[in-house]
Amino acid sequence: MVSPHAFTARRYLMCAPTYFDVSYVINPWMSEGTTVDRERADAQWHTLVDVYRAHGHTVEEVTPAPGLPDMVFAANGAAVVRGRVLGSRFHAPERQPEAGLFHLWFKEAGFDVREPESVCEGEGDLTPVGDLILAGTGFRTTTSAHHEAQEHFGLPTVGLRLVDPYFYHLDTALFALDDTNVAYYPAAFSPGSQEVLRTLFPDAVIATREDAMAFGLNSVSDGRNVFISPYATALTERLADRGFTPVPVDLSELHKAGGGIKCCTQEIRS
Ligand code: ARG
Repeated sequence: MVSPHAFTARRYLMCAPTYFDVSYVINPWMSEGTTVDRERADAQWHTLVDVYRAHGHTVEEVTPAPGLPDMVFAANGAAVVRGRVLGSRFHAPERQPEAGLFHLWFKEAGFDVREPESVCEGEGDLTPVGDLILAGTGFRTTTSAHHEAQEHFGLPTVGLRLVDPYFYHLDTALFALDDTNVAYYPAAFSPGSQEVLRTLFPDAVIATREDAMAFGLNSVSDGRNVFISPYATALTERLADRGFTPVPVDLSELHKAGGGIKCCTQEIRS
C-alpha cells in the first residue's frame, strides 16, 4: 500500500552519549547503582543517526561535555520553531550547565537565542503541532515558561498537566504525528487536560500504558515514518493501521536514564 502520508525532510540536532551515565536520580527511571554500557549506548545512538540520514534527514551534532551525563538528551536543550530558538533552564541543578552549551551551539549556527526566565526543558515539554504548541507542566517546565514560549514564537501554547511521575516530560506521553494529529497516553494527563486533547485531536492515536512504559510515545515522526521503540508493539501496529511507516530503533541503554528516541532528538524548525 502506498502511504497516504507525506514526509518532509527534517533538521535534527543530537549529542553523542560519550559521557552518558546514571550518576544521579532525577526521575523514576533512574536508580542508584545502575551501570551503563556506554559502548552499547553509543552503538544504539549511532544507529539512530544512521537511520535518520538514510531517511533523508539532516543530523548535526553538539559536542558532548564530561560531567554532563544527560546531555545526550538533546531535546531538552532548546525549542526551535519558525527559526526562533528558546533556550532552556533546567530544573535539576545537575543538568543546568547544559543550557549554556546548547545556547552556544545555536549562536554559532547563526541563531538568536532567547533565555527563558523560568524552568523550561525545551522540546521535552514543548511539542509543536502545526500552528499550536502543546506545552507540558507538572514536573519540569512551568506554566510561566508556556507564556514565554507563546510570546517568543507568536503561536498559541496549550498547557497540559502531567500527573504520572513516570511521564515527567510531555515527550514521554505524547508525540506529533504530523501538523494536525498526535499520539498519546491519556492517563499521563490530568482529567481536564485529557478533555483538551480529546477536543483538539478527536482522531488521535491512543496508546496503552505498556506502549508508554516502553517509550513508545518518545517517538519522532517526519509525517510518514515514525521512529519508534521496538518494544511498543501495540502502538506500532496502530500506527501502521493508520498508514504510517513505523521504523523501530532500539535505544534501551538510554532508557536507564529515562530517555528514548525523541529525548535524543532536537528538531530545528525553520
Ligand atoms: N535523565 C534525564 C532527565 O531526567 C532524561 C531526559 C529525557 N528527555 C526527554 N526529553 N524526555 O532529565
